[in-house]
Amino acid sequence: MNIGLNTQILPAGEAAVAAAARTLSGGGLVAFPTETVYGLGADATNPAAIARLYQAKGRPAFNPLIAHVGDLAAARRIARFDAAAAALAEALWPGPLTLVLPKTQGCAVADLATAGLDTVAVRIPAHGIARDILRVFGGAVVAPSANISGHVSPTTAAHVASDLSGRIDLIVDGGAVEVGVESTIVGCFDAPMLLRPGGLPRAEIERVLGRALNQAPADTEGDNGKPLAPGMLASHYAPRARVRLDAVALEPGEALLAFGLGAISGIDAAPAVMNLSERGDLDEAAANLFGFLRALDAKGVHTIAVMPIPDDGLGEAINDRLRRAAVGRQ
Ligand code: TXA
Ligand code: MG
Repeated sequence: MNIGLNTQILPAGEAAVAAAARTLSGGGLVAFPTETVYGLGADATNPAAIARLYQAKGRPAFNPLIAHVGDLAAARRIARFDAAAAALAEALWPGPLTLVLPKTQGCAVADLATAGLDTVAVRIPAHGIARDILRVFGGAVVAPSANISGHVSPTTAAHVASDLSGRIDLIVDGGAVEVGVESTIVGCFDAPMLLRPGGLPRAEIERVLGRALNQAPADTEGDNGKPLAPGMLASHYAPRARVRLDAVALEPGEALLAFGLGAISGIDAAPAVMNLSERGDLDEAAANLFGFLRALDAKGVHTIAVMPIPDDGLGEAINDRLRRAAVGRQ
């Protein structure tokens, strides 16, 4: 059991990067900022470290991890790129895009991290600290979001600490992340398929492809009964409070998660109100989403009512996460 560890928190900088690389090499667990959300990293080739990672998060081991690498050459050592995947990688990496691709023959990512699938999820993050850690460590780092499984993803080091203190070795504090929702996941199989909407808007991916992305049916099973995006369980992003979507009026006792400046009745009696973006900016709303859900949840309200949010740009990812939060934990 890796509970009761003394979790170190270091401000982002050269010393933290060196400590992170050292800890990863020694089989330890390091939380670090990426541009999307904080990740919890382990050496992708070290099954013991990966087993500790699943345990620290309380994550079921059938849910595979994303391998983070520093450059395209490193990505090509673990995954096979077809023409569409190569075009996406060239145009959109580094950035908030994960590609699910067939593994190469010599793929060094441990089977435990890919849940025994013959595909691997790969991403080159754009965050300076994440890139520095990958460069100094020198290998692939598997990193799920740095939260307890089933909680909303962390967008600050404090969120990470509140979930994982005592369970991991090191947290590198790089401040609040920029994007605020997890990477967009595209599976490059026969035709590129959207497996998870995320921090890179669909339109940017479709512009590079010159065609529409195929849509993965929600929570589908792939070949051999293995899920296509196994982590996309319906209740994955649940806060403690009930979440009610598309609210146009507040019921007594409900907290409000607002968007834009539209009026809503019952707001004067609401126990808490937070506005994702008063000016109706979806990028700003994405950056605020998980932190605001955590903050409203911490007030102990029974329900968080959410105003309607448009589905374009990052709105697709925001609405996806909110729908999952609304399903509630089973
Ligand atoms: O922005 C992000 O993607 C963050 C940062 C840290 O990079 N990471 C992240 O990881 O969100 P995680 O583990 O919370 O979500 C990864 C998703 C899961 O839904 C998992 O099931 C899916 O990727 N996934 C991983 N490998 C896969 C594979 N071979 N086939 C299909 N889905 C896969
Ligand atoms: Mg996650």
